[in-house]
Amino acid sequence: MNYTVVLPAAGSGKRMGAAYNKLFLKLNGKPILAHTLEVFQLDPWCEEIVLAINEQERQDIEKLITQYQLTKVTKLVQGGDERQHSVYAALQAASGAEIVLVHDAARPFILQETIHALVEKATASGGAIAAVKAKDTMKRVVDGQVQETIDRETLWSVQTPQAFQYELLMKAARQADEQGFLGTDEGMLAERAGIPVYVVESSYDNQKMTTPEDLVLGEGILRRREE
Ligand code: CTP
Ligand code: MG
Repeated sequence: MNYTVVLPAAGSGKRMGAAYNKLFLKLNGKPILAHTLEVFQLDPWCEEIVLAINEQERQDIEKLITQYQLTKVTKLVQGGDERQHSVYAALQAASGAEIVLVHDAARPFILQETIHALVEKATASGGAIAAVKAKDTMKRVVDGQVQETIDRETLWSVQTPQAFQYELLMKAARQADEQGFLGTDEGMLAERAGIPVYVVESSYDNQKMTTPEDLVLGEGILRRREE
């Protein structure tokens, strides 16, 4: 089995509070972006990597690709103002793919076994998204007042990768684009388009590096993996 992966990397990392795109921050001496790209570079199922980038970071990213020998990166496309726009631009550049994965460049700890399970499920069923079971009790709250406790057994925290048959996701993404609809993940666009989406149980390690505390957590994950 094989797939193309699309990685949105065109954010600015505001919540991280660094002076530059958080993807260039280092974990154990290696940029977050290089950690993420290496997972796909080393996965024999991954045929091609398409990156959505900030145009002004092109040279730095090309340098990183050379330094870490990321030979599967074939296209660097200009991202947009919103993550969804960056993904859409990269998806268009990935035409010809049968199965496409969308994965946040800011999630460097994705496991190959999760990727493979997603590809298998998307091939069989249309769409599959990485998710973990909710750990906390969840309540619906309006104006500070609890309305109800939601049955936790039915709740999942959603991550990326999100895998789809390429034509199905393109149809959903095109529809959202035409209607000016902004979703929070690809799964949401697919749901709106009536495409079946399944969850694949992922690892709690597959955290997005969003705020400075996440970097401490990330270094901890790398330390544990080295033991
Ligand atoms: N992303 C993107 N294009 C955007 C916004 C985000 O490609 N216009 C990418 C980011 O680079 C990241 C992923 O989408 O890899 C997930 O987004 P997020 O964690 O929110 O990153 P940022 O938007 O960079 O961070 P912040 O929201 O704190 O500014
Ligand atoms: Mg963001």
